[in-house]
Amino acid sequence: MPLNIIVGAQWGDEGKGHITDRLAHDAAVVARYSGGDNAGHTVTIAGEIFKLHLIPSGIIHPGVVCLVGNGTVVNPAVLLREMDALAARGIGVEPERLKLSGGAHLITPAHIALDRAHERSRGKEAIGTTMRGIGPTYTDKARREGLRAELFADPAALAEALAVHVAAKNEALVGGYGESPIDAAAVIAEFASYAERLAPYLVDGPVLVDEALLRGDMVLAEGAQGTLLDIDHGTYPFVTSSSPTAGGAMTGLGVGPRMVDRVIGVAKAFTSRVGSGPFPTELDGAAAARLRGTGDKPWDEFGTTTGRPRRVGWLDLPILRHARRVNSLSELVLTKLDILSGLAEIPVCVAYELDGRRVESLPHDLKALARCRPIYEALPGWNQDVMGARRPADLPAAARWYIEFVSAGAGVPVSYTSVGPGREQFIVMD
Ligand code: IMP
Repeated sequence: MPLNIIVGAQWGDEGKGHITDRLAHDAAVVARYSGGDNAGHTVTIAGEIFKLHLIPSGIIHPGVVCLVGNGTVVNPAVLLREMDALAARGIGVEPERLKLSGGAHLITPAHIALDRAHERSRGKEAIGTTMRGIGPTYTDKARREGLRAELFADPAALAEALAVHVAAKNEALVGGYGESPIDAAAVIAEFASYAERLAPYLVDGPVLVDEALLRGDMVLAEGAQGTLLDIDHGTYPFVTSSSPTAGGAMTGLGVGPRMVDRVIGVAKAFTSRVGSGPFPTELDGAAAARLRGTGDKPWDEFGTTTGRPRRVGWLDLPILRHARRVNSLSELVLTKLDILSGLAEIPVCVAYELDGRRVESLPHDLKALARCRPIYEALPGWNQDVMGARRPADLPAAARWYIEFVSAGAGVPVSYTSVGPGREQFIVMD
C-alpha cells in the first residue's frame, strides 16, 4: 500500500481534518508533514468535537500510529496540552501510538515573541499570522540555527542550545524591536520538563514511514494550511513559512515521489481565507455573512486557532486549477456543500479579467492578482437540505450539476463530497 497525500486546495480550513479522519481507518500511519499549531483541524464524531492543532487527525482511530513529521514545527507546550486533553477523553496518546520525528523543529517562547514583534512592526503590511511563532522557527531552520526535537534526548545539550538561542533572540527583541527580553532560565527549566515527557516519543520519522510502506501499509500524509499559503506556490508574501503542497510531504516526511499513489485536494464549495492578501472572489455585507455563519455553530467560518472571522467568497476555479497543477491532484474533495443550500443561484468564478484580457490561471505576481476581476458563471441553486444525503442520487440535480461543473472547470474528478460536519455526512461520488 502506498503513500496518499491530503492537501488543502485553497487558503486552508477546507475541512482536511474531516477527510483525514474518514480515510484514516484504512491507514497504518497518519502523518503531519508541515506547519505547526497554526493549523486547526476539527473532527466531529457522534456529536463530539475534537479540535486538533498539531496531533494528526488519525489519532481518533485506535489502530493508527500518528507521526508529527520532520517538516513540522512543534510547540511542545501545545503538543503536551493536546495530548493531555485527548487522554482525558479516553484517546490513547502513549508512545506506541504517537511519534515525534527527531528532525522536527521546536518553537520556543522567543519565537512567539518575535512573531508578535515582527507583525506589530509591519503595521498595515502585517501578514496576519496566527502568532504561533511559525515564521521565526522556520527562519531559524533555514539559517541553520534551529532547535530540533532530537535535543529532548540530550537534556544538557538542550539547555546549552536554549541558552544560546534565547540570548540571540533577546538581542533582536530588545535591540531590534524594543520589546522585553525573554527569561532564559525559565525557558530552560520549562523545556527540561518537556524533554522528560516527550523523549519517549522521539523516532526517526523517515525510517518509520519507510518501514510502514515496505510492509505494504498505507501511510496518509495529512496536509495543513493550503496550496495558496505555500511559501513557493501561494500568494507570497501572504503565506505561511512552509510547504503545505504535495511536494512538502516528500521533504516533510522523508520519502520520494515513487511511493505516492493518490494526491487528494480538499476544497470548500466556496472560498475562505484568514489573514491579509488578495482574494478575488471575496464578498462583504449580507452575502458574506450568509456564507460565514454567525459563529454559533462550530463549523461556522471563524478560525479554529485564532477565532478570527474568516473572509469568504464564491468558489474560484483558477485557484483550483492552480492547486491541481502544483500538487498533481488525482482527485478533489468538495466540502461544506450544505452551506450553499437555499441560494437561488450560485456564482462560480471561471476565469479572471486582468487589464482587459481574460486569464484562466492564477497570476504568479501578487500585484497582477490584486487587479484581477472575477468572471462569474451563475449556476442554479437548490432549496432542499442536503445534510441527510449519503449517495449522489440523494442530492438535488442542481447540486450534482454544481459538483460536475467544478470538476470539469478544475480539471480533476470530485471523489467525495461532505454535507455536514459529522463523520457520516459524506458522499462517495460515482
Ligand atoms: P503563520 O502560518 O502563522 O505564519 O501565518 C501566515 C498566514 O497563514 C496568515 O495569513 C495565517 O492566517 C495563515 N494561516 C496559517 N495557518 C493557517 C490555517 O491553518 N488555516 C488558515 N490560514 C492559516
